[in-house]
Amino acid sequence: MNLQHHVSLKAYNTFGIPAKAETFVSATSVQELKEALSHPDYPNPFILGGGSNMLFKRDIDGLVVHVALKGIKIVDEDDNHVWVEVAAGENWHQFVMYCVEHGYGGVENLALIPGNTGTAPVQNIGAYGVELKDVFHACTAIDRNSLKERNFSLADCNFGYRESVFKNELKDRFVITSVTFKLTKANHQLHTEYGAIQQTLEDEEITHPGIKDIANAVIAIRSSKLPDPKELGNSGSFFKNPIISREQFERLQETFPQMPHYVISDTDIKIPAGWLIEQAGFKGKRYGDAGVHKNQALVLVNYGNATGAEIWDLALRVKKEVQEQFGIIIEPEVNIIE
Ligand code: EPU
Repeated sequence: MNLQHHVSLKAYNTFGIPAKAETFVSATSVQELKEALSHPDYPNPFILGGGSNMLFKRDIDGLVVHVALKGIKIVDEDDNHVWVEVAAGENWHQFVMYCVEHGYGGVENLALIPGNTGTAPVQNIGAYGVELKDVFHACTAIDRNSLKERNFSLADCNFGYRESVFKNELKDRFVITSVTFKLTKANHQLHTEYGAIQQTLEDEEITHPGIKDIANAVIAIRSSKLPDPKELGNSGSFFKNPIISREQFERLQETFPQMPHYVISDTDIKIPAGWLIEQAGFKGKRYGDAGVHKNQALVLVNYGNATGAEIWDLALRVKKEVQEQFGIIIEPEVNIIE
């Protein structure tokens, strides 16, 4: 195991926060990962995947284990489907592109989401009408206590909107090593209902889209709204879209008739947090090197040298203002490392 000391994590988190790891190791095999998890000098190491959904407010004492397992392989196949097992350290978008190139359908709407495949199930990543759970077959994970490997089925994962068992009952208990997806080889179920996708396909005059057209449309939409973490540090949506009661929604609608919303059930309405934040006046605002993105108010950005604490201060300011103006509490989607 190649342990390094005093390593900057700036390149390992998409927010580009210069937190430091006291000790750092990149685990490139399951064996190495188990050794790192049971290192006698470093109890309870910190696990790092693609670093695309975390905000470091502090340095990390002890050991940071970077999960760098690689490999994509087909494990089963029938006339219509293919089951693909992807190692946890594979970049998510590269995996999506692999599927598009091979004609495997199911993940094309999830193009350009930052992060690694192994952490994608933790918050059930989703975009443009598709969530990871729709293509998830199973995953393998190491129990941090026993070092035994365990297989999780779709039902075991308890997926919800940006939720899974790995964020709740089993938080910090398992390290995912691989994820198996069930994808289509034929009769692809395309999801084009999302307005922006339809518009992009129309603009391109594509009447019979294939999975590559959908991926290209999603890439175009995301690139126009969401900042590329390589150019501007960010973690995608910083907040979750809040769900409020129908009564509260109807009261708010009297004052804000144009408030966008999605009906979740008879009693629950989801409001786009980006709209609330924009209405609260934060879109495009910058405080030092911490800011609210100019094209999508749900995304907080690091203009270069912001600290995690500065981004968090801005998040709290946004949260407070939204609560004062709308009486709605918005919660971070990003994992805050306190
Ligand atoms: N809106 C505004 N101002 C803004 C942003 C949004 O008014 O600055 C309003 C608009 O009315 C817009 C609506 O909010 O029509 C929805 O915006 P958008 O389509 O951009 O989607 P979102 O609800 O803001 C969610 C996900 C994104 C995902 C998109 C598309 C969450 C927390 N975010 O954003 O996920 O890409 O839908 O499906 O659910 C991520 O999780 O990192 C992420 C980017």
